[in-house]
Amino acid sequence: KEAIKIGLLGSGTVGSGVVRVLRENMEEITARVGTRLVLAKVLVRDVKKPRPYLEGVELTDRVEDILEDDEISIVVEVMGGIKPAKDYMLRALAAGKNVVTANKDVVAQYGHELFDMAEAHDADFRFEASVGGGIPIIMPLKQCLTANRITEIMGIVNGTTNYMLTKMSECGASYDDVLKEAQEKGYAEANPSADVDGLDAARKAAILSSIAFNTRISLDDVSVEGITKITPDDIAYAKNLGYVVKLLAIGKETDEGINVRVHPVFLPEEHPLASVNGVFNAIFVRGNAVGEAMFYGPGAGSLPTASAVVADIIDVARDIVNHSFGRVNCTCYRKKVLCPIEK
Ligand code: NAP
Ligand code: HSE
Repeated sequence: KEAIKIGLLGSGTVGSGVVRVLRENMEEITARVGTRLVLAKVLVRDVKKPRPYLEGVELTDRVEDILEDDEISIVVEVMGGIKPAKDYMLRALAAGKNVVTANKDVVAQYGHELFDMAEAHDADFRFEASVGGGIPIIMPLKQCLTANRITEIMGIVNGTTNYMLTKMSECGASYDDVLKEAQEKGYAEANPSADVDGLDAARKAAILSSIAFNTRISLDDVSVEGITKITPDDIAYAKNLGYVVKLLAIGKETDEGINVRVHPVFLPEEHPLASVNGVFNAIFVRGNAVGEAMFYGPGAGSLPTASAVVADIIDVARDIVNHSFGRVNCTCYRKKVLCPIEK
């Protein structure tokens, strides 16, 4: 196999980051996969709009050009929203293509349909970027912590609201001004009410809890309250008492069952989550073997999110290489890694 071809659906904040990471780190990525990854086609709404960072890549406004291209084996969905993203991903999987997405809306509500379709067609379905932006959390939960019985998962999982609460606390900035800033920085959802109403965090809480507690938590199972009612006075009042206001997503195993919720809380200043500021997220996990573990990093933004998306792409590409070539490619991969050291 000369190269593994990728079709990208959407080229906004995250999509442009994916293109940049693939380009800038191509040498390392090729060495890690054992073969070249090629961005073959990108789905956009307006093919005539100038997009200098996509120079040399075929642009299309017809999704069939990607879904019906037998040479494309990885479809990366970074359009957002349910429609038509969910349908495109199902069609890609049904065609035997592997799918990587950052779309928590679809994963939280229709993940089961996508997993079933992937399984039926022996394809990979990956969604690391759907929670925590650049923080590795989905794979650690699925793999590294899988020996544990997890009893609690709790964290700051929305970068926009954490950025807003931090700025409001630091400099008394107004709610509207800081929301605008978060949008300009590319942190907010296309409709930012999903961030401030807590829905984005609820989607992430449903995804994390489903994996952590090995059950299916739907969005309807999550009780949600956002930050729209938080005023600068609440933040100042909390500060005077030695607390900070944070929007938390919490999943807990209780005697009655799994409880999943999202709401603002007063956290004591010395709590580890109290010092997670700006666009940063942190997720705290309690397991019966590991004890307590915490994952921290940038929760949104073009390059951090692209870091997670491209990691999924690389992992899927390695699977393709291993299935196609087995050991031969492992050897090829090792050779490429060792060469610079031998020099
Ligand atoms: P965005 O900046 O709005 O980009 C979306 C892109 O998809 C735009 O280029 C848009 O085209 C294109 N698009 C949308 N619908 C389309 C359609 N029907 N046909 C063709 N192209 C279409 O959004 P984003 O921030 O990159 O987010 C993308 C996904 O990543 C979402 O699921 C989001 O929740 C998730 N995510 C985002 C972040 C973040 O920090 N931004 C972090 C983690 C996950 P136009 O340019 O023509 O509008
Ligand atoms: N709007 C989301 C946030 C993007 O602010 O966290 C990352 O999922």
